[in-house]
Amino acid sequence: MKVLFVASECAPFVKTGGLADVIGAVPKTLSELGVSVRVILPAYPALHGITEGGKVVLEIDDLHGGPASLVSVKAEGLDLLLLDAPHLFDRPGNIYLDAGGSDWGDNALRFGALSQVGAKVGLEGIGRWKPDIVHAHDWQAGLIPALLRQAGQDVPASVLTIHNIAFQGLFDAGLCVPLGIDPPMFTPAGAEYFGNLGFLKAGIAFCDRITTVSPTYARELLHPEFGMGLEGILQARRTVLSGILNGIDTDIWNPQTDEALTATYSADLLDGKRKNRAELEKRFDLHADVDGPLFCVVSRLTSQKGLDLLLDALPALVARGGKLAVLGSGDREMESRFIGAAHIYAGSVGVIIGYDEPLSHLMQGGSDAILIPSRFEPCGLTQLYGLRYGTVPVVARTGGLADTVIDANDAAMRAGCATGVQFAPVTAPALEQAIERTCDLYRQPDIWNAMVRRAMSHPVSWEQSARAYLDLYESLSQ
Ligand code: ADP
Ligand code: GLC
Repeated sequence: MKVLFVASECAPFVKTGGLADVIGAVPKTLSELGVSVRVILPAYPALHGITEGGKVVLEIDDLHGGPASLVSVKAEGLDLLLLDAPHLFDRPGNIYLDAGGSDWGDNALRFGALSQVGAKVGLEGIGRWKPDIVHAHDWQAGLIPALLRQAGQDVPASVLTIHNIAFQGLFDAGLCVPLGIDPPMFTPAGAEYFGNLGFLKAGIAFCDRITTVSPTYARELLHPEFGMGLEGILQARRTVLSGILNGIDTDIWNPQTDEALTATYSADLLDGKRKNRAELEKRFDLHADVDGPLFCVVSRLTSQKGLDLLLDALPALVARGGKLAVLGSGDREMESRFIGAAHIYAGSVGVIIGYDEPLSHLMQGGSDAILIPSRFEPCGLTQLYGLRYGTVPVVARTGGLADTVIDANDAAMRAGCATGVQFAPVTAPALEQAIERTCDLYRQPDIWNAMVRRAMSHPVSWEQSARAYLDLYESLSQ
């Protein structure tokens, strides 16, 4: 089985969120199952060092205003095909945004080019390697299924994974011509979205299978509250839609070996967790007492993540003796509200604005609980890291959060299976109650430690989900 992944980010090379973690991890598990996976990725500046060591396997004279090549190289256990097109991807800073924080004006051409090259490799292969399946991820690769469909009968099957339907890639219809989308594809049942060209919509309309990253989100997407305007076409295609839960790379995220921790630890020897907490308290200027739990947040600061609700719930968190460490960046107003909260609750609330991968590991290693009050969450990875690191997830009951955390209600406590705390509806009062329940549980050390150990033994690796992808590929290539 040969599978071509096409995506816009991939850890550890270039990451703005969970998509990168997924693209960096699944191909490795799939290859352990005997699948040959290649990953097409734009050659952003962060990948230049790697590109230099590779082999050019395709040259294009003019890809939307400049020459481009595809460079084949192995790195970090992945078989990469890097799309080297300096006029499109050789830019500093965020891969999607300019210095002012707006989308790059030519994002349609940048990621349209990624989709076009993805479709070309899907159709022609690289040397003798020809994919059976092209697996496109999110809107940036969304045109691929349409480009394959219009190419005729003998084409590889396509799978589209929706990691977040909030990002749809909507652009002027005039771009259909330069991006190679034929007029018959541009209909309301196809690539058109109210007169615009919809990259994600094109993918949904023309792929052979649609997956999203949790079973609950797959159901939620069919409703207007979550479908964000695409619920209609998803309902029409519901027989090919399924949810396959994300996993995590358990080698990179391993509290027994993690070099970013002050002290490593295991479920049997939790001492290290206390040392990590002490280090975090120093880094975030927090009082060093252990009467209450240390909560953390590691997140993009956007309305999706519901962290405005946490700002409203802060008085209750502090009144219960809790402390909070926040690492995040995003919405400017939310950043300054968190910075303000760190002044008001000095010693109890600490905030670092920015993106810091090693610190994100230390936060999982040193916090008692991780707060994820998302309004919607296709899967969410930080609760999975929390489980793995015995950092009790306190989560909104939505999407993948609902599918991965077992709430500490009476039934689950009696059955001995709770791994965290869930709350609904996603409101500040419900979050406050969840925080209070967590503080109460924390003050019963035997019960708390049992829950921490249970969380750490919850299966979070990719194994089961990679098998589910393989089953899906096999069902398409018969
Ligand atoms: P999303 O993709 O919607 O942002 P996920 O929970 O799937 O949410 O993935 C977020 C990923 O980004 C996780 O690996 C998380 O640790 C990481 N992350 C988010 N914000 C930061 C930050 N400020 N510093 C370091 N890592 C971060
Ligand atoms: C998206 C979603 C997140 C998911 C990630 C990886 O960014 O917001 O919930 O975990 O993709 O699939």
